[in-house]
Amino acid sequence: MSKVQKLLVTGGAGFIGSNFIHHTLKSRAGLILTNLDSLTYAGNLRNLEGLEKQYQGRYSFVKGDINDATLTARLISENDAVVHFAAESHVDRSILDAATFIETNVKGTLTLLNGALACGGCRFVHVSTDEVYGALGDEGAFTESTPIAPNSPYSASKAGSDMLVRAFVHTHHLDAVITRCSNNYGPYQFPEKLIPLMITNALEDKPLPVYGKGHNVRDWIYVVDHCEGILRALEAGKGGEVYNFGGRSERKNLDVVHAILKALKKPESLIRYVEDRKGHDWRYAIDCRKAERELGWRQSVTFEQGMETTIKWYLDHKPWWQEVKTGAYRDFYSRYYGDIK
Ligand code: NAD
Ligand code: DAU
Repeated sequence: MSKVQKLLVTGGAGFIGSNFIHHTLKSRAGLILTNLDSLTYAGNLRNLEGLEKQYQGRYSFVKGDINDATLTARLISENDAVVHFAAESHVDRSILDAATFIETNVKGTLTLLNGALACGGCRFVHVSTDEVYGALGDEGAFTESTPIAPNSPYSASKAGSDMLVRAFVHTHHLDAVITRCSNNYGPYQFPEKLIPLMITNALEDKPLPVYGKGHNVRDWIYVVDHCEGILRALEAGKGGEVYNFGGRSERKNLDVVHAILKALKKPESLIRYVEDRKGHDWRYAIDCRKAERELGWRQSVTFEQGMETTIKWYLDHKPWWQEVKTGAYRDFYSRYYGDIK
């Protein structure tokens, strides 16, 4: 692969995308980034405030939809590579209504793949999830050759996009890699996901809703470790390959909630056991030895370190999450950017 100088990032105003942009601007001095995001409820330009000024000439934002074929074809042709984060990402929302998940995750990915082909092919990193492998029992871990068996409309839509990427590699020789990561946590995560929801509710002395008995298990990775993995996949991943990333930090949901309450010195009486998620996957665990071996990637933040940093971040950024929770962040774009496109 020739050296990437100009990178198109999709979904860079969301949780992982914005952490990726911060991390890449800091750690890869030669790279110029364009962020394409349609700013759904999950996209927040506050996450990227000041970057145009701080990294003059190296970062720009374009408001637009990945399903806009003309726009995406142009942007892809102006860049050397694409890192594709844009998606509907919340399992519970997909249970209520799957349609936007198909529109963005499946059709949107197809639009980008067509754009990549139209400009003669480019490096394409498709950011996927361990949820495409389905659920585990109490033993074992997902490897890259675990069969795809998604259980929620969200994971089915991600699996659909993975299959399209695979087909474009096989049929059209597109230079694409797929990454599949476990549960991320860290700064800028939308407080609908477990960890930021529990932290912010606890800070507001509101009930903490735990699904079922709280015994389901997730493997938690600090978001910057995932972002570094994606960069390694971009720089050194072999076209057509899949790379798993995980945090080697399996925890029961209830243990995560207890740790948050303890750190914030809040009472366990805030916990409320609520109806279980429909089709709730029991356990996820990731075998990430391939990424360690072939990309030289290593997890660098333990769960305890990452949680300390994350809890401190939410304590120090109350206006950020309060704006998100009240929806006031949606006014920010028009106030900050006026009516630029
Ligand atoms: P997020 O929901 O926080 O952000 C998604 C971003 O995509 C938002 O900024 C949103 O505005 C943008 N977007 C949505 N639809 C769009 C469209 N049609 N056109 C342009 N932009 C659009 O998601 P996240 O948690 O940051 O996840 C990012 C990616 O990583 C997703 O593909 C997700 O499947 C994957 N992933 C997430 C996790 C996790 O734990 N959060 C783990 C593994 C993989
Ligand atoms: O594994 C990677 C996936 O992790 C990503 O692909 C998804 O985009 C991301 O949302 C995440 O999916 P989960 O469904 O695992 O994450 P969530 O934070 O929604 O839930 C984590 C666990 O906590 C899960 O077992 C459900 C439980 N939970 C969640 C919420 C929001 C609760 O008990 N109460 C809650 O209120």
